[in-house]
Amino acid sequence: MSVPKGKLPLPKLAEMKERGERIVMVTAYDAPGARFAEDAGIDVILVGDTAAMVVLGHEGTTVPVTMDEMIFLTRTVARAARRPIVIGDMPFGSFQVSDEAAVENAIRFVKEAGADAVKLEGAGPSLSRVRAIVGAGIPVMGHVGLTPQSATMLGGFKTQGKTAEAARQLLDDARALEAAGCFAVVLEAVPAPVAAEITSTLSVPTIGIGAGRDCDGQVLVYHDLLGLTEGHLPRFVKRYANLSREIRDALEHYAHDVRAGTFPEDQHTYEMPAEELEAFESSRSPRASRTSPQATKASSSPTKAELPAPRSERPLRKTSSP
Ligand code: KIV
Repeated sequence: MSVPKGKLPLPKLAEMKERGERIVMVTAYDAPGARFAEDAGIDVILVGDTAAMVVLGHEGTTVPVTMDEMIFLTRTVARAARRPIVIGDMPFGSFQVSDEAAVENAIRFVKEAGADAVKLEGAGPSLSRVRAIVGAGIPVMGHVGLTPQSATMLGGFKTQGKTAEAARQLLDDARALEAAGCFAVVLEAVPAPVAAEITSTLSVPTIGIGAGRDCDGQVLVYHDLLGLTEGHLPRFVKRYANLSREIRDALEHYAHDVRAGTFPEDQHTYEMPAEELEAFESSRSPRASRTSPQATKASSSPTKAELPAPRSERPLRKTSSP
């Protein structure tokens, strides 16, 4: 695959790790989010399957989001993101069945949605999927620790790797993902010392979310960090804004203004030349003023001048005037 001009080349992430330069990753699910991320100098955008919860309205699970929905969202992000590497998150069911299905779906992310790479959860059975997708020429990001698609098996959204044995397993899984060809590995909800050990063991970058500051990069969910998510947030989220408050205030203000008749104001309305208005008004009124009330009563069918303009003759919203 060719790398479009201006795109951060994928190997740069490994170089950043070597230099000790932190990688910044955020999720996004639409074009405005991608533009904001790009303008903020974000390196990697993940179109996460968290879309299920933060944009599609599924409560407490990422499982229901479909391939078609992820393709749609990823396409909107890829269209707007120039420099950041765009990663499509393979949803539950898109890679579990077979290597062939995993490759087909990864190809859809690249070909239909314009993603630069894909991410998939887990090690174990996911390893052969990684090998198959990388073998097809598509870069893969791994994801271990808390893997929300298997939250039920993990006993809920819980920190992983808290016992010595579980920590050792996590390290083995991360190493296996690197060996299978992953260009980076997400570590989610993992004790900081375990993430630090994995980070120093792997030669590919680790991206942490709830995994401490020693990872090579960090990722947060867009809606969480901007304060768009309401209700409980995991401990690892830092809120950098309170946009849900801003949005609620703005919408309440708008509703109030419409009901009170204080919106729109003169500055939001269009005018027309006085003589045109006069001509328009007199073109409508003479017939009405010439016609006696009795005649109006007798004729029940309105004249053409009295009818509202047909839809096609009404001014469109987008006009040449500002
Ligand atoms: O789907 C997602 O947003 C993720 C991140 C939390 C890493 O997988």
